[in-house]
Amino acid sequence: MDRTVIDALNWRYAVKQFDADATIEPEKLAMLIESARLSPSSAGLQPYRLVVVETREMRERLAPHSMMNAEKIKSASSLLVLAIYSQLSAETFQTHLNNMAAHGLIPALSEDEAAERYKRFMTRMPQENDFRQWAHKQAYLALGTLLCAAAMLGIDACPMEGFDAKEYDTMLGLSALGLTSSVILAVGKRSPQDPGQHKTKYRRASSVFVLKK
Ligand SMILES: Cc1cc2nc3c(=O)[nH]c(=O)nc-3n(C[C@H](O)[C@H](O)[C@H](O)COP(=O)(O)O)c2cc1C
Repeated sequence: MDRTVIDALNWRYAVKQFDADATIEPEKLAMLIESARLSPSSAGLQPYRLVVVETREMRERLAPHSMMNAEKIKSASSLLVLAIYSQLSAETFQTHLNNMAAHGLIPALSEDEAAERYKRFMTRMPQENDFRQWAHKQAYLALGTLLCAAAMLGIDACPMEGFDAKEYDTMLGLSALGLTSSVILAVGKRSPQDPGQHKTKYRRASSVFVLKK
């Protein structure tokens, strides 16, 4: 029988110990990265970028700033960092509208119309923090897409919030690009020694989880 999405989601778990000698095939990693690029986002704005940390050297440098996750980061094959835009400039917004228009998705807009759209968009998010919260939500949606795609591709993964975003931003040069780390995902191959793979997956029962109206 073909592997279904449910089989894949039952197979996956948050890996605590990766096989440090194993690497993901480049074609599979490329597909995983593509899944994040194809992830939907509010208004299609994709207010984030995906940082792919492939070198062991950089992972070793990030590990001490990763709280309880240091060993996972060192033994993983790659580390993916979803980094959100720290703010949304009028220029970025306008470029997005121009790209949408170039793809025939919206009518072409004059500069004034685009400026008006930006103003309207930002009035819904009056504070800088509101924009960031919104952007984090979009990044987490991409994380969900990545987790599901990784499971389908047979790639092991561990999503993590336990890291020092400020240190990551500095070490990866993200601040200079107007980005800030949101959430990270270590990917690789589970170690045969990782006890997590033998544990029962616990989720609330469907009868409790689903509320039928
Ligand atoms: C957003 C997010 C952040 C997480 N952060 C961490 C983390 O920092 N370290 C860790 O070991 N696991 C982390 N996890 C893994 C969760 O603890 C795990 O997914 C949850 O307990 C369910 O178990 P399962 O994924 O093995 O099915 C995180 C998961 C998510 C979705």
